[in-house]
Amino acid sequence: MNSWTVNDKPTLASPSPGEEPAPTRLHLKLVIALEPLLAVLLIVVDLVKVVMLGLPRLASEIYSIFVPRAKKNVRGQLAVITGGGNGLGRALAHQLAARGARLVLVDIDLAAAERVCEELKQEHGVSAWAYRVDVSRYEDCRQLAEHIERDGCGPVDILVNNAGLILFGFINECSVERAATVVDVNVKSHIWMTKVFLDGMIERKRGHIVGVSSMSGMYAFPWGGIYSATKFAVCGLMASLSEQLRIQGHSKYVKTTCVNPYYVATRKDVVEFLQKPRFSPLTVEQAGREIAAGILREDVVVTVPRLFGVFTRLML
Ligand SMILES: NC(=O)c1ccc[n+]([C@@H]2O[C@H](COP(=O)([O-])OP(=O)(O)OC[C@H]3O[C@@H](n4cnc5c(N)ncnc54)[C@H](O)[C@@H]3O)[C@@H](O)[C@H]2O)c1
Repeated sequence: MNSWTVNDKPTLASPSPGEEPAPTRLHLKLVIALEPLLAVLLIVVDLVKVVMLGLPRLASEIYSIFVPRAKKNVRGQLAVITGGGNGLGRALAHQLAARGARLVLVDIDLAAAERVCEELKQEHGVSAWAYRVDVSRYEDCRQLAEHIERDGCGPVDILVNNAGLILFGFINECSVERAATVVDVNVKSHIWMTKVFLDGMIERKRGHIVGVSSMSGMYAFPWGGIYSATKFAVCGLMASLSEQLRIQGHSKYVKTTCVNPYYVATRKDVVEFLQKPRFSPLTVEQAGREIAAGILREDVVVTVPRLFGVFTRLML
């Protein structure tokens, strides 16, 4: 039987001290020589990706702007909007009420929700109910479902998870308490409200769940790490929910929409903050109109402004 000893193994010429072994040098030379070639190849692959995937997407988005899909009829349907007492929630409530939907406005600020309910009744002649709910608490959300049933508002057809806290600032500058509250309101509320209302929608074979995320949920702005993290979470949750409904066979009658607006002039602090990077926010009315249109078209993802989203997706 042949036996090998260390000395029997074929050896390479030993490098002189400080010199690299010959195969490593060869490997390095090869990599350096191929580097420009590799860079060109990667650029070509990127270009092919843009042409093959991006351009058809861009074309279909532009087509759908000029030839929009029919909007669904929400007359008589019941829409629940969290954070309906102010900003985007209020604007969406007006948009849906103008099309004959009945509204349940949920807000931690009951007086604000009640004020908006009065506006809806007077301006659009629809029924509207206000409830004080902290949507970051599961028990509050569960009780809301009981109250809606008890008060005879009817089954929920559209759930808009809109309530959220905007937080600008660097992660290390934010207090633990504030960060925890933002995560609770911006993320947990979507999970709790969806848990509470999804089964009924599936049973009735009718429903629509809308999650309001943000452009910060598609593109991470450095001055809002915690906020951005919560909005990426909402996008993830909505994408997963959409797939869940598809594989369970419910996606024909229970729809999902993830909404990603650019900055909107809903609050003084938002407007003031944006003066520094010289961003001009959208008006609340414009954002409300575009978001409502996307919901009524049952788009799976709505970006506001619409083309901004297409370009952002192309760049990612
Ligand atoms: N304003 C923007 O620039 C902008 C941009 C993109 C996305 N968004 C998102 O749109 C949504 C609405 O934002 P907005 O600018 O209209 O905010 P807003 O502050 O004007 O309104 C939010 C509403 O939610 C309510 N709310 C807060 N915490 C709550 C809780 N725990 N339970 C129930 N209600 C609660 C508030 O009382 C308020 O009425 C948020 O999710 C926000 O992240 C806003």
